[in-house]
Amino acid sequence: MTAPIGVFDSGIGGLSVLRELLRLMPDESYIYLGDSARVPYGTKSAETVRLFAGQCAQFLLDQGVQLIVVACNTASAVALETIRAAVDVPVIGMIEPAARAALQSTRSGQIGVIGTRGTVSSGAYPAVIQALNGHAPAPAVHSFACPLFVPLVEEGWIDHPATRLVAQDYLDHLFAHGAAAGSPDIDTLVLGCTHYPLLKPLLHELLPSVHLIDCGEHAAHVARDILCHSAPPSSNAAPNVRFYLTDIPPAFVSIAERFLGFSVGGVERADIDHLVLVDKMMG
Ligand code: DGL
Repeated sequence: MTAPIGVFDSGIGGLSVLRELLRLMPDESYIYLGDSARVPYGTKSAETVRLFAGQCAQFLLDQGVQLIVVACNTASAVALETIRAAVDVPVIGMIEPAARAALQSTRSGQIGVIGTRGTVSSGAYPAVIQALNGHAPAPAVHSFACPLFVPLVEEGWIDHPATRLVAQDYLDHLFAHGAAAGSPDIDTLVLGCTHYPLLKPLLHELLPSVHLIDCGEHAAHVARDILCHSAPPSSNAAPNVRFYLTDIPPAFVSIAERFLGFSVGGVERADIDHLVLVDKMMG
């Protein structure tokens, strides 16, 4: 029996990453932690997000996980190195896999990135895209924060008219900003927050000719490579996931079941505020 894979997010967004992990590695067992008592992370300071993300990582380590997936772009942007420095298991973030996929996808050299305020103001996506691109002509990266998407998704307003209005407004701004006179159009849009893939059908409808990059999909491939899974999925067994939340909102189970397509069963409450993640060099 191998150790579980730990996946955490501020709330339900990490389910979009869990779904991709299950698609590629259905026979693994998983522990999902949503810090729903303290969502959103995207409006908080980098220091606070580092503290919260460290506590999530420590909780997963205490459950004996073999690998941690930071299924949150905001935490990946500001806390990934802190977590990596503190733990002895591999840690996968969201930004590098998505940045790599965006570079491979773009033909126009114009990449859009939407995310939380925290992710956008960290500048992590432009920096990583630039670093991965090396000396090739740099693509233009147009970033735009969409803070209302997280509460709308947490509320389960996935196909609600209000969400459509908000999405239209955000995308109008992003594309107006991206369109400098004579420049080509954004052809690739990174969904730089793991809550956003829950809105993928709507975003796809609003942007039919733009390639949407789902960071969870690409991060799941990295996880599979690290765990050296080569065989195609063989099992028909029900997914083996234990769900923990720091507070249990009434809508969680129905949103999760609708999105994941299987019965979530029980959700346990996790108490993590007292946990401390200690750097292995210092501690
Ligand atoms: N889903 C997370 C992300 O990818 C966090 C959203 C939030 O809590 O603001 O950034």
